[in-house]
Amino acid sequence: MKIPFIDLKTQYKTHKDEIDTEVLGVLESTQFILGPQVSKLEKDLATFVESKYAIVCSSGTDALLISLMALDIKAGDEVITTPFTFISTAEVIALVGATPIFVDIDEETYNIDANLIEKAITSKTKAIIPVSLYGQCSDMDKINKIAKKHGLHVVEDGCQSLGATYNGKESCNLSDIGCTSFFPSKPLGCYGDGGAVFTNDDILAKKIRTISNHGQEERYKHKYIGINGRLDAIQAAILNVKMKYVRDEIRIRGEIGARYNQLLQDSNVIPPKILEGNTSVFAQYSIRHEKRDDLISKLNQAGIPTAIHYPISLHQQEAFEYLGYKDGDFPVSEKISSQIMSLPMSPYLTKEQQDLVINTIKEFS
Ligand SMILES: Cc1ncc(COP(=O)(O)O)c(C=O)c1O
Repeated sequence: MKIPFIDLKTQYKTHKDEIDTEVLGVLESTQFILGPQVSKLEKDLATFVESKYAIVCSSGTDALLISLMALDIKAGDEVITTPFTFISTAEVIALVGATPIFVDIDEETYNIDANLIEKAITSKTKAIIPVSLYGQCSDMDKINKIAKKHGLHVVEDGCQSLGATYNGKESCNLSDIGCTSFFPSKPLGCYGDGGAVFTNDDILAKKIRTISNHGQEERYKHKYIGINGRLDAIQAAILNVKMKYVRDEIRIRGEIGARYNQLLQDSNVIPPKILEGNTSVFAQYSIRHEKRDDLISKLNQAGIPTAIHYPISLHQQEAFEYLGYKDGDFPVSEKISSQIMSLPMSPYLTKEQQDLVINTIKEFS
């Protein structure tokens, strides 16, 4: 049995007719940038997360970058985030000229430890970027409260968590701005790069939209320095089809995640912990094991693909050497990155495939 890590092929085959028709429609219309598909997607995404605005853009990274630009974050400012995330989260802070300030993570959720944030706040701090890692939100109430007390913005990096809920509220609509990614392997993925920014703030929404289109409010009148951050109509057309099925897929992801958790309970791995009040979209189903690399070999030998999200904490990346952090500065992040590994997860994972993964893990002593 060959198990895909994320089964995009079955998903495409299931919705092929609809997707092909929509893509061909865009080709025939020759409206490739923005247009009706993009407007429809924005309307439906805003409804999905119950926010006033959704502004789609070229990637999750650009969604974060545009957000920081719209908040006027610049050289001399500091932005607090987690070292246990994909590089984009901190990359964008550096790209606007600001300084990423890392705060260690919570050992249960792998998200930023909200109890450590206040200690990292200085007179230069302008924002906090919590990441809803693997599809579970951070302690957003606590983070928003800290931000309010210190006059900071909160930008949720929801690149892995669209469709997750936190105390009944939708991820990406839990703070000033929420950002998500439509990278193909995400719970809602397009067939290239794509992303979206969500906000309820009228002024910020207008600015975000303007910045994502070269800072232009009218053609050839540029109010801000912006970027070419628009989403292609073909990607919007694909996402419009996938939007019809995403709630069902998220429900199935939750069921598969719960089944993994239940059946791995009496194994020697540490399954993900989803806190009360949270639902996860399991963008990744990530477990921990002290002999992670040996377990990966065993699974790979049985034809089971795995991945590591993420093997190196950001403060230990060469690109961030200039920040002056050293090994040991974020012990929880360092420990988790040495033990974490992700298992196959998609709404199309069959029971037989999942059983093979679970049984192979249980055979590993
Ligand atoms: C936590 C996190 N932030 C940011 C991104 C960047 O998204 P994209 O790949 O769409 O630029 C990703 C996606 O890979 C992510 O997982």
